[in-house]
Amino acid sequence: MKGSVLITGASSGIGLALAKRLDAEGWRVFAGVRSNDDAACVRASLSSLSEPVMLDVTDSEQIEAARALVAARTGGRLEGLVNNAGIVYHAPVESLTVQAVRRQFEVNVVGVFAVTKAFLPLVRAARGRVIVVGSISGRVAWPFNGVYAASKHAVRAMVESLRLEQRGFGVRVSLIEPGAFATSIWQKKTPPECLDTARTEAHVALRYGIAQRIVERAMDVIGARAPAPERCAAIICRALTARSPRARYTVGDDIWLQLAFSQLPPPAKDPLIAFSMDRVLREQSPKRATSREPV
Ligand SMILES: NC(=O)c1ccc[n+]([C@@H]2O[C@H](COP(=O)([O-])OP(=O)(O)OC[C@H]3O[C@@H](n4cnc5c(N)ncnc54)[C@H](OP(=O)(O)O)[C@@H]3O)[C@@H](O)[C@H]2O)c1
Repeated sequence: MKGSVLITGASSGIGLALAKRLDAEGWRVFAGVRSNDDAACVRASLSSLSEPVMLDVTDSEQIEAARALVAARTGGRLEGLVNNAGIVYHAPVESLTVQAVRRQFEVNVVGVFAVTKAFLPLVRAARGRVIVVGSISGRVAWPFNGVYAASKHAVRAMVESLRLEQRGFGVRVSLIEPGAFATSIWQKKTPPECLDTARTEAHVALRYGIAQRIVERAMDVIGARAPAPERCAAIICRALTARSPRARYTVGDDIWLQLAFSQLPPPAKDPLIAFSMDRVLREQSPKRATSREPV
């Protein structure tokens, strides 16, 4: 056996691809899932060495139960912890409810914190690795993904400190920064209860409504064209096994474009975005608006 690894959010996408790969390579995988159906599917796709673990990263009791189970199975040593679970709400910043913003941070930031805090003693005992799946959105923020980007920026900062703090204990910490990968995250539309434009002025709500539909269509296209999650899983494997793991791994076909865009100064970036958005919104708007009318 190569070692033991816990992966959060292993029911689908990058987490599932990683669980399968590590299991096939001889790791004992504890695959975090949130439902009995997913537990059964994951169990069926892994060897008898590995197992699903019920783990909602926002549920402190489940985190403690998972920690106790992993400690008992491994004798208190965990070679790898992969914080992969994440959600995304695509919407204009103003349109999200306060609860949705809290939920975005609860899963993507506090969840990473809580799981890492719980499992670090086991990882330290093994002088193991902590991997956190951030996003290229931890470096760049586009319209309609500001709150997700904020959560990934926050994670990036937390991981930076954690890496510096843990090195003295022999624990290596790496941040994975994926661009787009073809997973179900792109099909998960922002739930209607997360959106609130009731008190928004009519012309603003109209513009946001059109933009939301465009964003959702764009997500379908991006999700369909993006590379398979196995490629991202391969990079996470490298972070787990390389003799000298890197602090950050940036992976994906679109990352260079995104990074280049993020380097543009606001006086160059803002008019470019405003021009493209206005053009698309005008094309989609039910009534043709002039440049002085709000769409
Ligand atoms: N795919 C991309 O293009 C992309 C790009 C950049 C970064 N990422 C990041 O990659 C990670 C994995 O995403 P993915 O693309 O593989 O998407 P995915 O297929 O939607 O997988 C997300 C996983 O997170 C789990 N999850 C959601 N809320 C959770 C919670 N409260 N507790 C525990 N698990 C929870 C989901 O479980 P359920 O099935 O139970 O909901 C699922 O297993 C995320 O952190 C995401 O932000 C993805």
